[in-house]
Amino acid sequence: MKKMTFFKETLKNWRTTGAIVRSSQYLCQEMLRPIDFQQAAVIIELGAGDGVFTHELLKKMRPDARLLCFEIQPVFCEVLREVKDPRFILIEDSAELVEMYMARYELTQADYVLSGIPFVSLPDELSYSIVGNCYKVLKKGGLYIQFHYATFIKKMYYKIFGNVDISFVPLNFPPAFVMICEKK
Ligand SMILES: C[S@@+](CC[C@H](N)C(=O)[O-])C[C@H]1O[C@@H](n2cnc3c(N)ncnc32)[C@H](O)[C@@H]1O
Repeated sequence: MKKMTFFKETLKNWRTTGAIVRSSQYLCQEMLRPIDFQQAAVIIELGAGDGVFTHELLKKMRPDARLLCFEIQPVFCEVLREVKDPRFILIEDSAELVEMYMARYELTQADYVLSGIPFVSLPDELSYSIVGNCYKVLKKGGLYIQFHYATFIKKMYYKIFGNVDISFVPLNFPPAFVMICEKK
């Protein structure tokens, strides 16, 4: 997708998109850094946008792994549908329905959840519901990996997971924080 198209989409849907440009390769590297791709059988991506993380995940995933990917913007879904990979499942629906879709695809537990959903601009109830449902489907020891442009939201992750590690990625516009939570 062209940069300008991404920009127009984000302006039209500012509250749910929460960014003006797609994430940089530096942010992508930091989001994928904690993932043990040899071990990961099920990865969930929330808010894939036009697929900047999706493509990198698929490059590194095992041939028998699955990637369940949620996105609500039809224009982004159109782009994501061009991904022709049997490991990739696109869900054009809200991430809060993660449990229902895991069951539909006969997936029991996830090893990792990666998310770019802008919880700072969504209602608290929806944010807690999405992250709380992801907590439920993660296996013990599984990681929830999320980026934000501010750190005040970290209290939500403490409440749900009881832990959060934060790293800073200056080479992104805007500079971003990657938050990693473990299901203990
Ligand atoms: C900041 S963009 C991130 C896009 C891409 N991952 C990136 O880093 O460039 C956030 C994305 O989350 C999507 N989104 C927002 N709320 C969502 C929800 N409830 N379920 C699934 N996707 C959602 C938006 O449509 C948008 O594409």
